[in-house]
Amino acid sequence: MTGRLDGKVALITGAGSGIGQAAAELFAAEGAAVVVADLRAEAAEETALKITKGGGKAIAVPVDVAVAEQAESAVARAVAEFGRLDVLYNNAGVDSSGSVAEATEADWDRCFAVNVKGTFLCSRAAVPRIAESGGGAIINQGSVAALVGIRNFAAYCAAKGAVVSLTRSMALDLASHRIRVNAICPGTVFTPLMEPMLRARGGGDLEAGLAMTVAKYPIGRLGTPEEIARVALFLASDDSSFLTGSIVTADGGMTAQ
Ligand SMILES: NC(=O)c1ccc[n+]([C@@H]2O[C@H](COP(=O)([O-])OP(=O)(O)OC[C@H]3O[C@@H](n4cnc5c(N)ncnc54)[C@H](O)[C@@H]3O)[C@@H](O)[C@H]2O)c1
Repeated sequence: MTGRLDGKVALITGAGSGIGQAAAELFAAEGAAVVVADLRAEAAEETALKITKGGGKAIAVPVDVAVAEQAESAVARAVAEFGRLDVLYNNAGVDSSGSVAEATEADWDRCFAVNVKGTFLCSRAAVPRIAESGGGAIINQGSVAALVGIRNFAAYCAAKGAVVSLTRSMALDLASHRIRVNAICPGTVFTPLMEPMLRARGGGDLEAGLAMTVAKYPIGRLGTPEEIARVALFLASDDSSFLTGSIVTADGGMTAQ
């Protein structure tokens, strides 16, 4: 590893699983002290323990990003523990299935509460602290669902579209604070989030759902959490010092068709 985040403090939401967990491990390996924030306290503890056992710096913080006080206290804990905050990765997300004819109001509200409001609340809490550090980076987790329609995922597509729009607006507002704001739009990555969707697509057969999904990817396979984590590392580090307001698609060519 090359120490690309030496001396930096990064808060990653949804870091108890999948892409967030891979990013927590990679950021720590690159020298960052990582605040592993997740709704599931045990999952956050497991990720943090893995990092500290490997000689890295991490703490676990239980948080529901959709609750303002909890977002505030996660940021406060980062600064109390590590003295500063440089990077926020708004990765926590939930999906929601169904067309507009089928989706429930409760699913729609939760999808927006976690994906969109959670991004707003964590960013609002973090911006003053990142500005105090002299600037830094915020990375928002979009999806290819923000860029193309996906059948039976109405709320998720709409919520990720909002995250992409919010990213552009934040980039303008925060440039004067020396905070760069970019979004990643990953294609399908096999994580616990995606398993129910892949199973449903295959009519209950996971292997069939996987094969149907892979067929949409010119590169001939799905992505891995580590591949998305490496994009996040680029956006968190000075390697991307001239990027702000960018929507970085990482999808094996899926939206190029
Ligand atoms: N996996 C994919 O194919 C894919 C594709 C595009 C975008 N994404 C996005 O990437 C992000 C991570 O997805 P993943 O596939 O790693 O999912 P995952 O389910 O493996 O991990 C998501 C984590 O977020 C946590 N979480 C859920 N709600 C939360 C809340 N309210 N507060 C705090 N933590 C919460 C969960 O406990 C879980 O640990 C999500 O925003 C997702 O929408 C995923």
